Parts: sequence; structure tokens; C-alpha cells
Amino acid sequence: EILADPVAKIAGVGGSRHPSIPLPVDLFGAGHRNSGGIDLSDVNILARTVAVVNDTGLVRRAGAVANAPADAAGLVRDAVSRAHAAFPGWSATTVDDRAACLDRLADLLEQDRDRLMAICVQEAFKTIPDAIGEVREAADFCRYYAQQARMHLRAIELPGPTGERNMLHLDGRGVWATIAPWNFPLAIFLGQTVAALVTGNTVVAKPAPQTPLIAQAAVELAHRAGVPRDALVLVTGGPDVGAALTGDVRVAGVAFTGSTATAKRIARTLVEDDDRPIVPLIAETGGINAMIVDSTALPEQVVADVVASSFRSAGQRCSALRLLLVQEEVADTVIEMLAGAMDTLRIGDPGDPATDVGPVIDRASYDKLMAYRANPKGQTLKTLAVPAEGLFVPPTLIRLTAIEELDREWFGPILHVATWPAGKLTETIARVNAKGYGLTMGLHSRIARAAEVAEAEAAVGNLYINRSMIGAVVGSQPFGGEGLSGTGPKAGGPHYLYRFCAERAVSVDT
Ligand code: SER
Repeated sequence: EILADPVAKIAGVGGSRHPSIPLPVDLFGAGHRNSGGIDLSDVNILARTVAVVNDTGLVRRAGAVANAPADAAGLVRDAVSRAHAAFPGWSATTVDDRAACLDRLADLLEQDRDRLMAICVQEAFKTIPDAIGEVREAADFCRYYAQQARMHLRAIELPGPTGERNMLHLDGRGVWATIAPWNFPLAIFLGQTVAALVTGNTVVAKPAPQTPLIAQAAVELAHRAGVPRDALVLVTGGPDVGAALTGDVRVAGVAFTGSTATAKRIARTLVEDDDRPIVPLIAETGGINAMIVDSTALPEQVVADVVASSFRSAGQRCSALRLLLVQEEVADTVIEMLAGAMDTLRIGDPGDPATDVGPVIDRASYDKLMAYRANPKGQTLKTLAVPAEGLFVPPTLIRLTAIEELDREWFGPILHVATWPAGKLTETIARVNAKGYGLTMGLHSRIARAAEVAEAEAAVGNLYINRSMIGAVVGSQPFGGEGLSGTGPKAGGPHYLYRFCAERAVSVDT
């Protein structure tokens, strides 16, 4: 009874979800092509999920969950010892057997979708569409890396012009530490982890302190799928656990997603001990992501994509749009339409399927964002009312006088807008590049030459032209940045697995 109405609305059944929408397009309607693979017409999934969210015994979280362990060093030492001891056995398994574990894990994730979604909603304040996306992306990572492993991890024979037999093998390196963020607590947590596992490594996995429950559920499913208990060991806690883990000289590689500052700290830790082997770090961090809009762009499409890119997931995606750059001639029109579209956002309980924007992750994040909003770099053009109770940061639009004024990433629903002069596309891209980050960039233009310029000049990992800037699809839009945004390679791409491997060439004189 309670479900029928919001579920029908989100599925686009029974009338418009946003009757007051001032645009000729449905921003959030069924089958929106920028939904990040989320099929909002899946009414049954939504109905069942809401039922689970309502019935579950989990208590809605108001603060951090993972208790700091009393003995972080001891916890990590034991975990690494277990994974280290498990390495010879796991690395000796066949690629096919390991890939089969990942396929089984994908099946288990889908079978357990409702419970996993419920945990994502309650623990990470994910909206229902975002929670659906989490489970789907996690399953996609498992199936994609399983397929890639079967295709690419075979030993290959190389030319032997001198009569030798030359073989190239791809082996596991040892114990990998995978350190995940709270904003994709299932998809990124598992994506990094299964990539390390399928390449023959064992793993000590550390989720963000805010999201240990979903990580625990994921690890339990991985064990049920056939990954030995000691080949994948979970450790939870805060920075002291992370520091102990990356500081353990038996760790043979680190896959980290989180802040640029933490990535640099990890890089320093990995080279601190002179006797430690030189080990790889895969880091995926943040960005000051810009979208450039010229006077030929379709304003309705621009506005729909800006709203999705900036405010969906409460702006808590590393891919999210932070800086909208509109050509001077059309700026007033675009900004006015954008402000109108913001009014249609529904802010509230993430467990309600009608909600577009939920609370931010925790008090620390809330305080930081609210303090900035109270004293921003530019002029606040638009801000929305939010529920009085809860960690709701009002979606906010701030006007800057210069592109350079935004010099850091605000990880929440805060969008800055500035203008750029006609004929200066190359220079504008250069000014964005100069910030040093390189994750996502967007361009809205109907001039083919503008797209060519963006492709040539944008120093980013993911360039999105005439669409939103979020929701990279595994296998189609490999995701990850450069510069201050990370080391590459790209998650969900064909080159990712190689970075987890030791390459060994064997030459035999025949
Ligand atoms: N992969 C996510 C996106 O594309 C961000 O981590 O939105």
C-alpha cells in the first residue's frame, strides 16, 4: 500500500514524477540514458527493496560504525599473516577456477540484491536507484574481470628468432591490500578486491570506517562463492588500520580509492623501508571536474545532465561535476533553467524511492560542507530547503568570477558556475587542466570541431561529450584519472588486471 505510489512514480508509471518540472525532458524518467546502467523501470526490484529496507533489523546509522580496533597493528599483522600463508595455494589454482569463483560471486550478489541494497541505504545513505546501481556494478565487475582473466591471463609464447623457446607468464604478486571508499562501498570495494584475487593474489581488504557492514556482507558472499577464507581477509577500522596495512612489508601491492592526500601518504609509506620490495600502487582519487558548455548546446539537455552529474548521490561521486563553465552569451539562460530544475529535486529519506538527494555520509563531511556554504568563494545563486533532522546538505549553486577560484574538491552537492568567452575553448580547457586533477570532464556542444578540440586537449581519464559525467559502465567506459586524480589503470577496462600481476619471461635454449 505504502509502496505503490512512490514505486509507480519512480518507474515513470502513473504520471510525471516531477509535475512542476520546467523542462521539456524528464530528468529522471524511465530509461534515462545516463542512469549509469540503472533501469528505473524495474518496479519489482524497487518494491521488494523498499520492503526489505523497512523490515530490516538494521538501525539507521547516525555516525561512524566501524569501531577502532584496540590493537590495529596486531589485527593487521594477523590478517596479513593469514593472506601470506594462503598465497602459495591460491596462486597455484587455475585462472579458470578463480574466474569461476567471480562468476559465482556475481550470481550470489544478484540473488542477495535486496539485502545488499538495504544495507547500502541504511549504512551509506544510498538512494534506492544508487543502491540498485551498487549491486549491479559489483556484479558487473565480477563478471567482467572473470571474462578478462580467461582471455588475457594465459601464458603466451613469444618469438624465438635465436632458436630459444620464450614464454611470458602472468602470475600473482602476493598479498594485495585493497582499501575502499564509503561512496561505492560495495562496487569499488569488490571491484578492487576481485581484480586482485582473479590474478592469483591473496587480499587483505579494508573498507572505509563508515561502511563496514556492506563490506562484511560482500566478503561472506565471496567466501561462499569459493574464495578460501584466508585468501580474502577483511579488516575494519580507521586510518591506523590503513597505515598498519600499507606499512606491512609483506604487502606486495596496494589498490586504493579515496582522497589524493591519502594516496600520497600511502605512496610515501610504501617507500619508507629501504629493505622493502618496490611494490605497485593503484590509486584512484578525486577531481575538480568541469563541464564546458558552448552556445550551440541544447540547454534542456545541459540542465538535465548538470543536475544528474552534480546532485545525484548528493554529489558524493569522484566523477561528479564540480565546475560548470558556460559560454558568456548563454550563461544567463542556462543558469536560470538550472535553478528552476534544482527546485524539482526531492531531498529526504534515502529509503523512500521518490528521493533524489539523501543525507551526506557523516557529521564530519556535513560540518565541512556547511562551513564552506556559509562562506563560499563566490556568490550563492540558489540553495534548496532540506529536512530539519539529519545530515542534509542543501544542493547549492555558487557563481564564481573566475575559473581559478575553485581550487579544491568539495565532496557534496555544491556546484560552482563560471563563464568563458566565445572562441576560447582551447584556453578554457587549459585553465581547467591547470588545476592538476584529471578525472572527468564534460563538453556540451553541437560543433564537431569542439569535440575534437576537447578530445585533444582535455587531460582527463574520462571525457563525456553531450551527456552526464557520472555512471561509467563497466567494460564500456573504463574509469579512472590521471595527475592528482590517480595512477590509472582504469577500473572496468581491459588493461586493469595486468597491473595486479607479476610478468615473468622464461627463455629455454632448445
Ligand atoms: N564510477 C563512478 C562513476 O562513474 C565514480 O566512481 O560515477
